[in-house]
Amino acid sequence: MATAELAGKHLVLGMTGGIACYKIAELTRLLTKAGATVQVVMTEAATQFITPVTMQALSGRPVYTSQWDGRVPNNMAHIDLSREADAIVIAPASTDFLAKLAHGMADDLLSTLCVARDCPLLVVPAMNRQMWQNPATQRNVVQLRADGIEVLGPDSGPQACGEVGDGRMLEAAATYEAVASFFAPKILAGKRVLLTAGPTFEPLDPVRGITNRSSGKMGFALARAAQQAGAEVHLIAGPVALETPWGVFRQDVQTAQQMHDAVMRSVADADIFIGVAAVADWRVDHASEHKIKKTAERALPTFSFVENPDILASVAKLPHPPFAVGFAAESGDLEIHGEEKRVRKNVPLLIGNLGPLTFGLDDNEVILFEASGATKLPRADKQALAHALIAEIARRLPDTSLIR
Ligand code: C5P
Repeated sequence: MATAELAGKHLVLGMTGGIACYKIAELTRLLTKAGATVQVVMTEAATQFITPVTMQALSGRPVYTSQWDGRVPNNMAHIDLSREADAIVIAPASTDFLAKLAHGMADDLLSTLCVARDCPLLVVPAMNRQMWQNPATQRNVVQLRADGIEVLGPDSGPQACGEVGDGRMLEAAATYEAVASFFAPKILAGKRVLLTAGPTFEPLDPVRGITNRSSGKMGFALARAAQQAGAEVHLIAGPVALETPWGVFRQDVQTAQQMHDAVMRSVADADIFIGVAAVADWRVDHASEHKIKKTAERALPTFSFVENPDILASVAKLPHPPFAVGFAAESGDLEIHGEEKRVRKNVPLLIGNLGPLTFGLDDNEVILFEASGATKLPRADKQALAHALIAEIARRLPDTSLIR
């Protein structure tokens, strides 16, 4: 998560009765850490699961539970609390609360707030699988969607009652992602983005291989930013220890050849290709089928190498290429190598990492190379930079309706 990506957003976080209330403590922390103001409103039932004291401490604001709360000067909490809000998020949203929303009922502070709102409403259902599958609940969810209410989740898996199935509330981190995604401008709506990220691993034998220090952080951050911008995202990742960004389709590969083949199978559908992976330039000609043994004579093994396919250049060479973006990690003279590399790979945009190699670090400073010249972007953490780069890419997209 990037710091302050929800800066200035004011959220009413409505909690209804359910064991998933414990997840809202963490969700509140994630939202406030991202810069959002969180006004917690709890139903009476929610206070049976977690105390208003806990939620006040985490949100840093008084918690409201009653329609008759005298702390609101005009005694109209149900109007005032939602007027400042950019969105109301109901998490967890119980079966009963979904039913109330679907019928426009207003018999407590939270339900009245929802009916009286003039901002978007997001609900994060949490319930037992039978309650979720109940035809009445399913009818209510259809009605909520038809009313323009965002339904986030639910998840599937083991439930507090011991049963397994649909109905679990999304985890706090996934709920955070869905909320952040809701607010991101949809500058890539309807676009399909294909990305490569991370290192590749070129085997020497079944246990050893050649790889590099790419962490995959920049590529994963770009995949997340593209998803939030409304794109359908396909991420082809080398071996990395990173979680798949919410809503992104991920395919894992090991070698450059596998990455190349995976890209070539999917690229025809893509509007944008972003090659962020640090692809090995060479592989061992014939990797040993068996583990290479240390010999008694201590003779050192020797390897002969062959060149790997250049994935980015292959994409750019296609008869109808997507808008192709390359990355360049140089250890010096980026200004010279960046533009030279862009021309050699024949891509409209190449993003060069400025300064020392940034593998594994959380922030980055880049220069954009394109035919019209070079532009430097300010140093930022990789997620903030990813949002800025997606905006730069979106701005440069050709009018595809004229090309395809
Ligand atoms: O030539 P160099 O490796 O520095 O180029 C970097 C760019 O080219 C990156 O976008 C990288 O993902 C891509 N690349 C590739 N296939 C290779 C080597 C690099 O797609 N075999």
